[in-house]
Amino acid sequence: MAMPASSTARPRLRTPSAPQPPFPHHPGSAISIGHFSLAEITRLLRRAHLLNNEDPIERSKRLAKRRVALLFYEASTRTRTSFELAAKSLGMDTTLVSNLSSSIEKGESLKDTGLTLRALGAEAIILRHNASGAPYVLEQFTDLPVLNAGDGRHEHPSQALLDLLTMLAHLSPAHASGEAALTAESLKGVTVSIVGDILHSRVARSNLLLLPQLGAEVVLSGPPELLPEDAALIAPNVGVERNFELALQRSQVVMLLRIQSERLAGLNVDLDEYKTRYQLDERRLARLAPEAIVLHPGPIIRGLELTAAVADGPQSKILEQVHNGVRIRMALIERAFAALDAQGKGANQ
Ligand code: CP
Repeated sequence: MAMPASSTARPRLRTPSAPQPPFPHHPGSAISIGHFSLAEITRLLRRAHLLNNEDPIERSKRLAKRRVALLFYEASTRTRTSFELAAKSLGMDTTLVSNLSSSIEKGESLKDTGLTLRALGAEAIILRHNASGAPYVLEQFTDLPVLNAGDGRHEHPSQALLDLLTMLAHLSPAHASGEAALTAESLKGVTVSIVGDILHSRVARSNLLLLPQLGAEVVLSGPPELLPEDAALIAPNVGVERNFELALQRSQVVMLLRIQSERLAGLNVDLDEYKTRYQLDERRLARLAPEAIVLHPGPIIRGLELTAAVADGPQSKILEQVHNGVRIRMALIERAFAALDAQGKGANQ
């Protein structure tokens, strides 16, 4: 099962990336988790909690008939569906443009696709793209808020927020509901292990930017081909532990990542060896404290990153993550449209 190696050089985590201005062009955009202050994340958690508990009829009046486009250049189940359900819960009209069934197939560019969606009345765009940095390009061309639904190997900020919400719901419910303000010590004493294909993971990157800010210690675990030596340099409070069992013993949260088989060409990754060393099975799960939780952004590959018994077991909070995605995305959409309205650029102005 070893993938052919075209080079003996080890990959580096910091890939040449698209231009990354320090701030997004539009104040309603959500492109990098690094753009959010802890106060702003506290506000988002509070709004997510309140919107989730609001009467659905009242909630559906909040952004009634406002328009958002979902522009997806890569496959998605969780992110696309939860953004769409979140928008509909707020009363919005949504439209989906996928690269597989649109004029993107005929060669239409990101710029022209974005301008077309704007001309059709979209006031904001939710974008998933295979190129790192594509959301920055789209917002600059369209002057619309862009919500990053995952761009290349760069970031997946709404995933990091829902991961945080899921962790806090188990570790500190007052923080999860936004009642208590997040601080640099909110996750002090908490160790989060992120395991597996760190190299290709935008989820890992967003979590690495977020969790240390809250005082968490982050332990990265995986084989050298998928976890470059320089990964620990990405933020303070981040370390590398190649021995998965030792990482598990220290962790209150274990975040498994999907092995991105579609991106393994050229890397010397043996999937049987990976399972032997890094698959979370019941024997390894016993190393975790009973109250520790297991997360995975999905899609999970049963029998590779984890066994079915672990995926379906009581410590797995994977479906809770999915569930939390809708409320976080309602809060992000509401924030985007509040910024639009504050600029006097919304459709109702
Ligand atoms: N977590 C996540 O991004 O899943 P999807 O690819 O299904 O959206």
